Amino acid sequence: MDERKANVRQDWETNAARWRRRERQTLEFTRPVTAALLRLAGVRSGIRLLDVACGSGDPMTSAAPLVGYDGLVVAVDLAGAMLAGAREKVIAGRLRNVRLAQMGSESLAVRPASFDVVPCRFGMMFCPNPLQALGEIRSALIPGGRFATAVWAEPARNPYFTIMPRILRSYMREAPPTPRPGVPSPLSWGGQGVVEDLLTTAGFSELMIEKVPLSFNHESVESYIADWRVEGIQELDRQLPGRSPAELAEIMPKVEEALRRELNAYVRDGRLELPAEAICAAGRT
Ligand SMILES: C[S@@+](CC[C@H](N)C(=O)[O-])C[C@H]1O[C@@H](n2cnc3c(N)ncnc32)[C@H](O)[C@@H]1O
Repeated sequence: MDERKANVRQDWETNAARWRRRERQTLEFTRPVTAALLRLAGVRSGIRLLDVACGSGDPMTSAAPLVGYDGLVVAVDLAGAMLAGAREKVIAGRLRNVRLAQMGSESLAVRPASFDVVPCRFGMMFCPNPLQALGEIRSALIPGGRFATAVWAEPARNPYFTIMPRILRSYMREAPPTPRPGVPSPLSWGGQGVVEDLLTTAGFSELMIEKVPLSFNHESVESYIADWRVEGIQELDRQLPGRSPAELAEIMPKVEEALRRELNAYVRDGRLELPAEAICAAGRT
């Protein structure tokens, strides 16, 4: 396995526990994205659907009842620890039309031209080789089949993602990489025209692009910070490698104070409403 992909996989194996703890909150926050994605993909009864980078089960869990028992959902992900979450949902929801498998989107071990629809929610940005992954997805689709993906929009539209990295930059010893395709990060596909160019280059046509505005809501800035604090020191440790525990403990209250200042700009009637924007893009083979 390519070293960059192995690193992404390791990151998600490690991230999985944290992801699962925040899963309900994330699901609530991003619900409109799943709805747009399934609509653009043309999900309906009786089709064969391949959910790529399904993580702990989105959009697989919403797609399975729509596809029904006359169809089939295959959900795949690179990280076993993320798939374990999907497996729990398959068992709890008795989703008998779902099969799960661990595989990366750059090497899909599925029969060519065997799926009507491939959705991928917030997964493509982590591919070190996006065109290879798109080529594999295209091969998996029947002629006229549809691929639909959700990615995060440009940084300026996503304070939800940019506030903390901006605060931490002054404590970093090395500048973080610029988000662009091939550099795995949530915002890698968010630049103007990036998703359109990638889909067109990969051979998809009849593109449909939809921007989906979102709001990450919390009771108040203080409740958000209290929530962040639970795993804050671990986040600082991850983002600021090489810092000693004593240094991190000293940085922590300064980060909290900066966070409070930044977040106060997004308070409406006492509640925190942090804007975000996703792009849903779909195309045909
Ligand atoms: C942000 S999560 C999204 C999970 C899920 N689709 C959702 O929207 O909740 C990103 C997922 O992409 C997976 N992933 C990253 N790189 C991948 C790759 N090259 N092939 C397949 N899955 C990958 C990760 O393991 C992780 O589960």
